[in-house]
Amino acid sequence: MLTARRRFLEFLLASPLLKAAPADSLADMLNVMDFEAVCKGKLPPAHFGYMATGVDDDVTLHANSAAYRKIHTLPRRLVDVSRLDTSVTLFGTKYETPIFLCPVSAQKAFHPQGEVAAARAANVKRTLLCLSTVATASVEEVTKANGKPIWQQLYPTSRWDYTERIVKRAEAAGCPVLVFTVDRVYGRNTETQERFKRLDSRQCGTCHPDGKLTYLRKPMFDGMDMTGVSSLNYTITWRDLAKLKSFSKMKLVIKGISTGEDAQRCFDSGADGVVVSNHGGRAEESNRSTIECLPDVVSSVGGKIPVLIDGGIRRGTDIFKALALGATAVGIGRPYVWGLGAFGQPGVEKVLDILRMELEVAMRQNGAPRLVDINRRMVTLSPTF
Ligand SMILES: Cc1cc2nc3c(=O)[nH]c(=O)nc-3n(C[C@H](O)[C@H](O)[C@H](O)COP(=O)(O)O)c2cc1C
Repeated sequence: MLTARRRFLEFLLASPLLKAAPADSLADMLNVMDFEAVCKGKLPPAHFGYMATGVDDDVTLHANSAAYRKIHTLPRRLVDVSRLDTSVTLFGTKYETPIFLCPVSAQKAFHPQGEVAAARAANVKRTLLCLSTVATASVEEVTKANGKPIWQQLYPTSRWDYTERIVKRAEAAGCPVLVFTVDRVYGRNTETQERFKRLDSRQCGTCHPDGKLTYLRKPMFDGMDMTGVSSLNYTITWRDLAKLKSFSKMKLVIKGISTGEDAQRCFDSGADGVVVSNHGGRAEESNRSTIECLPDVVSSVGGKIPVLIDGGIRRGTDIFKALALGATAVGIGRPYVWGLGAFGQPGVEKVLDILRMELEVAMRQNGAPRLVDINRRMVTLSPTF
C-alpha cells in the first residue's frame, strides 16, 4: 500500500504538468539572461557560437560579468527619490539613459533584419547605437532606421585610402562620433565558436562560399576591391591617430583601452573619449575584467574626456556600479543581440526596458535620483577585487 502511494507520488512529481512551463515568450523574460536561452534555441549553432565565444578558455569573457559581484553598493537612506533623471549628455547630445548599444558585427546572422531591427529598437527607446564597420547593413540604412545620428565604429582596413573613404562616408551619413577599435590585432583562438560549429549540421560553405571574402563583402566596403585587403590594420600606431583625426570633423573615441597609461596616450594624441573594453573577452585572454580596469583609466583621464565602458554588463546594478566607479556611459553587446536573436526588434526593446528598470531601482534603492548623485563612495570593492 505504502509502496503504491509512493509510486503514485513519484508519478505525479515527474508529470510535466507540475514542472515550470518553459519560459520562451517575450512576456516571460524576467532579466536579460533569459533572452540568451531563447536565442540559443533559435539560432543555428555556428551563429550562436560566433556570438557566444570568447578566446582560449573564455576566462576574460566570464571575468567581465563575475567582477561586478565583487563590488558592493553602500545605499544611502532618506533621500527623495520620487523623481529620477537617468539622462546623460555625450558630446553635446542628450540621451535618456547611460546605456548604449555596442558595435556588434554581422547582425543578420542573428536575425533577418539585423542592425536595422536594433536601430529601430534604439529609436523607440531613445538609446545611442554604435554601428560596426563589418555590419550587415549600411550606415545610411541604419541611421534612417534609427531616425537620428548614430556613432560609427571603425576597423581601419590595411589600405589608408579605403579607411578614409569609410570615415568620410560615416561623416556624410551624419555620424558625430567615430569609435576606433584598437583591441583587435592579429588572429585569435575562438575555441567556443569552433565547438559550436561542430554541432551545426549545415555546411558553412553554402552561405559563405568564399570564406574570408564573404566577411569582407560588407556594405561599408561597397565599391572597394577587397582582394588582398584586410579589415584590420596591423601596422597602425599612436602616431597615426592624428592622420585618422584629419579625415573628418567627427569626435574620435578610442575603444579597447585597459590601462590608465594607454588612456593618457589617447588623451595626449587628441582623442575625445575612450571606451574601457576588451571586446567582450574576444581579443586577448587577459583574465582581467573591464570593471577592474576602469578605476585606473578614470584616475588617468576621468573628468578630462568621457570614459565609457562595456563588457559583462547584465544588470542595472552593474550599470550603477560602473557609473559609481567613474564611467560616463555603459555599453552592452551580447545582451541586445540575445534580444535580437530571440525576438527581433521587440526583443532588443525589452532588453533595454529591463536594464533601464533595473538601473532605476538601483538608483532609488541607493539614494541617487540623478546620475550625478552616483559617486565613488557608493560602492566598496571586496578584498579580492
Ligand atoms: C558577436 C560580436 C561581434 C562584435 N563585433 C564587434 C565589432 O565589429 N567591432 C567592435 O568594436 N566590437 C565588436 N564586438 C565587441 C562589442 O562591441 C563589445 O565590446 C562587447 O560585446 C561588450 O561585451 P558584452 O558582450 O559582454 O556586453 C563584438 C562583440 C560580439 C559579441
